[in-house]
Amino acid sequence: MTSIKITDRSGAERNITAKDGLSLMENIRDAGFDELLALCGGCLSCATCHVYVGEEHLDKLSPVSEDENDLLDSSDARLPNSRLSCQITISPELEGLRATIAPED
Ligand code: FES
Repeated sequence: MTSIKITDRSGAERNITAKDGLSLMENIRDAGFDELLALCGGCLSCATCHVYVGEEHLDKLSPVSEDENDLLDSSDARLPNSRLSCQITISPELEGLRATIAPED
């Protein structure tokens, strides 16, 4: 279990206890944030799981793949700390991770 902090589109923050080995997207969904649509279910084809990751954890994440990069490029809301949450696997080294659900495109 890893503690992470999620900020929704209204700016409300909530600490959640995330399950290691599941994706950040699955953990956000399981915690009841239904504004994270994740329409493709994690197949890397929709970009509706877009989040902004706290700068202090960016270098602990696996690198952005070419496919993830292409999908993020399709978003007008892309920022330097943008990631697709289905591509982040929760592990103890991500303790304290902050993620903000990006605006809907
Ligand atoms: S859930 Fe579709 S790309 Fe992440």
